[in-house]
Amino acid sequence: MVMKIPFFNSYKQMNEATQFHDDHVPEHIAIIMDGNGRWAKKRGLPRVAGHKEGISAVIKIVKAAVKCNVKVLTLYTFSTENWKRPKSEVDTILRLPKEFLHLYLPELISNNVRIEAIGDMENLPSHTQEAIQYAINRTRDNDGLVLNFALNYGSRHELLNAMKAMLKDMNEAKLSPDELDEQMVSRYLYTSNLPEPDLLIRTGGERRLSNFLLWQLAYTEFWFSDVFWPDFSEKEFMEALEDYRQRKRRYGGL
Ligand code: IPE
Ligand code: IPE
Ligand code: MG
Repeated sequence: MVMKIPFFNSYKQMNEATQFHDDHVPEHIAIIMDGNGRWAKKRGLPRVAGHKEGISAVIKIVKAAVKCNVKVLTLYTFSTENWKRPKSEVDTILRLPKEFLHLYLPELISNNVRIEAIGDMENLPSHTQEAIQYAINRTRDNDGLVLNFALNYGSRHELLNAMKAMLKDMNEAKLSPDELDEQMVSRYLYTSNLPEPDLLIRTGGERRLSNFLLWQLAYTEFWFSDVFWPDFSEKEFMEALEDYRQRKRRYGGL
């Protein structure tokens, strides 16, 4: 939709004045929440203290996304490569979804948030799976922000699974090679029911994708911040949205 936008000094001002949803508000924001360990190290704390502190940044950013009328927020919470870390750290990280939901599920429900998850759930500890599944069921009928946790998520793993599933369906004559196009591939991914991300944010200073949404980010706008995730606040989030608002997406055209 093309709309003429009046000049506002800040994204906040614009959003307050005009409660419309248009191309200038990213519909889907994906975030690589990085820098928890370095946040803790800087304070002489164990790495897990950074992961725990990261929870408060999550709720802040979820609320900011709700306020800005963002439709989908995908948070990279645990990657398929993160199993390489010491067991005690992995155990702590995988307990955080339950802790987060225990603290904030009622608030999320009252904000009309719908919880979803992408990734290889089956290989997560049962307490993690149960907490997420409970929240998914409990928020199923909400139609506000989709809060999508990428848990035990790896893009190559996702693509490989999609390829295997497509081959299986072809062998069983449920899918013909003629039907195979980009949309069909998208349908075999965890994100089949979601729009592609408009904006990717990575905190913590690194400028890489770390196996996140390789297919889905083909035309996404990127925004990097040096701020460690536990310190990431609504201020930086608004800066990212403001920057996105200035961009012109061409998709290869003019
Ligand atoms: C991101 O923070 C959280 C996860 C990967 C689970 P890190 O733990 O990677 O923090 P740094 O990058 O070591 O500082
Ligand atoms: C990416 O961060 C994964 C998550 C934020 C969950 P990492 O800290 O694991 O990425 P690398 O190892 O620096 O690439
Ligand atoms: Mg990291």
